[in-house]
Amino acid sequence: MTTTRLRKPIKHFPIIRSTLLILSMASIPFILFLFLSLSHSTHSHSHFHSHSHYIHIQQACKATRFPHQCQTSLSSLFNNPNPIHIIQSAITLSSQNLFTAQSMLKTFLDASTGNRSRTTVAKSCLQVFQYSHHRISLTSHALSRGRTKDARAFMSAALAYQYNCWSGLKYANDTSLVFKTMSFLESLTILSSNALAMILNYDLFGNDTASWRPPRTERDGFWEGYGSGTFGSGPSVPANLTPNVTVCKEAGSGCYETVQEAVDAAPDDVDVGGGKFVIHIKEGVYEERVRVPLRKRNVVFLGDGIRKTIITGSANVGLQEGMTTYNSATVGVVGDGFMAKDLTIQNTAGANAHQAVAFRSDSDLSVIEKCEFIGNQDTLYAHSLRQFYKSCRIIGNVDFIFGNSASFFQDCEILVQPRQARPKKGENNAITAHGRTDPAQSTGFVFHNCLVNGTDKYMELYYSKPKVHKNYLGRPWKEYSRTIFIHSFLEALITPQGWMPWSGDFGLNTLYYGEFKNTGPGSNLTKRVSWSSQVPCRVSFKEMTGFIISVISSSWDVRFQKCHGENGIPNPASDQFCW
Ligand SMILES: *[C@@H]1O[C@H](CO)[C@@H](O)[C@H](O)[C@H]1NC(C)=O
Ligand SMILES: *[C@@H]1O[C@H](CO)[C@@H](O)[C@H](O)[C@H]1NC(C)=O
Ligand SMILES: *[C@@H]1O[C@H](CO)[C@@H](O)[C@H](O)[C@H]1NC(C)=O
Ligand SMILES: *[C@@H]1O[C@H](CO)[C@@H](O)[C@H](O)[C@H]1NC(C)=O
Ligand SMILES: *[C@@H]1O[C@H](CO)[C@@H](O)[C@H](O)[C@H]1NC(C)=O
Ligand SMILES: *[C@@H]1O[C@H](CO)[C@@H](O)[C@H](O)[C@H]1NC(C)=O
Repeated sequence: MTTTRLRKPIKHFPIIRSTLLILSMASIPFILFLFLSLSHSTHSHSHFHSHSHYIHIQQACKATRFPHQCQTSLSSLFNNPNPIHIIQSAITLSSQNLFTAQSMLKTFLDASTGNRSRTTVAKSCLQVFQYSHHRISLTSHALSRGRTKDARAFMSAALAYQYNCWSGLKYANDTSLVFKTMSFLESLTILSSNALAMILNYDLFGNDTASWRPPRTERDGFWEGYGSGTFGSGPSVPANLTPNVTVCKEAGSGCYETVQEAVDAAPDDVDVGGGKFVIHIKEGVYEERVRVPLRKRNVVFLGDGIRKTIITGSANVGLQEGMTTYNSATVGVVGDGFMAKDLTIQNTAGANAHQAVAFRSDSDLSVIEKCEFIGNQDTLYAHSLRQFYKSCRIIGNVDFIFGNSASFFQDCEILVQPRQARPKKGENNAITAHGRTDPAQSTGFVFHNCLVNGTDKYMELYYSKPKVHKNYLGRPWKEYSRTIFIHSFLEALITPQGWMPWSGDFGLNTLYYGEFKNTGPGSNLTKRVSWSSQVPCRVSFKEMTGFIISVISSSWDVRFQKCHGENGIPNPASDQFCW
């Protein structure tokens, strides 16, 4: 084994180094400003300023989950920084420590030669660190332009990626090198969590740091109240897109034969709002592993219809050594602005193969419409950032919609299918397993106007012995899991308790599981677990939409219309409860 000198986390804000490290970060003017102002700070008015700066940092740090670490890390900031300076410094600190974590993981990778599972973990970490770097730099950029909602979304993701690595390393925690790396990552996620909490407070209270406070959740009765008061149809894939390239099964007809080749042909680094690269995937079964990398933005998959255009794979964690849940995805998308319409994506590994993802997405502001996702455990990995699913069908059984994204599912059909292993014996299925780890993360799942049912086969099985076939709306994969079902139809298969614990009482006091005006035999609330909620009556329509918009995006063009009744006819009667 190679010996390494393990570094301590950077606890202070190192002024000089930051000018170099931050070059990629679009915050150069700020850093230069900070550098200059710090180097020119004088002693003449230090008393007044050091006191007021101390108060400012103290108030900002009080709003974090780890105020002690926050104060220590920012203690070398002076000259009366304003809240934006404080936040940018916290972001920079997170970024610098991420570089250190990266080099530790490289050391671990070098030391892992010949061990497949360790190598996989190390490589996965290095990959998510790259994503984390990218999102941190976007956070800083968005913040300096007053786009605080975007900053929250990006920093939430940056933190999630750091956590992902830590979480993966748990399974390789059998050397002191890994143990030390994990400890380092713990301090890194603390710094990132603190930066995120400050961004959240800046979004809620602006520069008035006296009002800043630790992140609260709906469970504490806290709702972000700035909704538009309207609620309706979300974004969609534009009609009549002209394909740039075509994928088909007929060799020699001038089209690509694999989806991946077509993706590879897309230009890199197109602006997020900019031109799309439209790939028409003709009817056919494409057996391949498709990856849309970070730099391929605005890629659009247009199929010829559900079950006509099918992308299929079978990678899985249960039967393949060195496979991870993340990598098992048949289609995995990271580039922002991804869209897909009219196709099926599946993972056919089967019910005994454990985690086997069909579709995984880290694509911010992605729109998926009229698509079908088929799998068993972990079908749809809505991993991070903001995603919109419209009129989709999602099929699975164990935790089959999961991840730590802000995802909105509208008009979707959610179907449980049998687990092949001894289906008659009975089982517990959770439809969702949202993975929010920090109360400041602006993530959550919202299901609006969806149908929760089983496939024909499953419902037959279910009705043969309803008592042993249990299906729950969700369970807390992580402590601050957040999921809401609104105006959805819940079939009989949903058990009266509604929601399922993960392990003992883990997360039960911190999660938020809400239901609002659902219908169907599974929607009866009388026997629900005490730790789930009905969206309370006092929460106005406006606050509810505020919650949804904060989860999804204010910058995204989500148009909500007011008060549509059963048949889509506007009902002007009330501001409350008429949607
Ligand atoms: C490979 O790494 C894993 C995880 O750290 C460990 O459990 C296993 O014993 C290692 N295998 C070998 C052959 O060293
Ligand atoms: C990693 O292993 C060390 C030593 O066995 C242990 O003390 C520590 O709790 C482990 N960390 C995690 C996160 O499991
Ligand atoms: C906070 O103060 C800074 C510096 O004065 C200013 O640029 C910014 O717009 C203020 N933010 C808000 C939300 O008022
Ligand atoms: C894709 O097609 C659009 C519209 O037809 C066009 O404007 C754009 O330049 C094309 N992109 C590439 C990379 O060919
Ligand atoms: C649920 O699925 C069953 C079995 O396919 C079907 O009979 C039933 O009508 C479905 N429920 C709804 C509300 O569509
Ligand atoms: C809900 O369930 C309770 C008992 O489990 C029952 O008394 C009540 O009538 C049900 N409500 C509806 C609307 O079906």
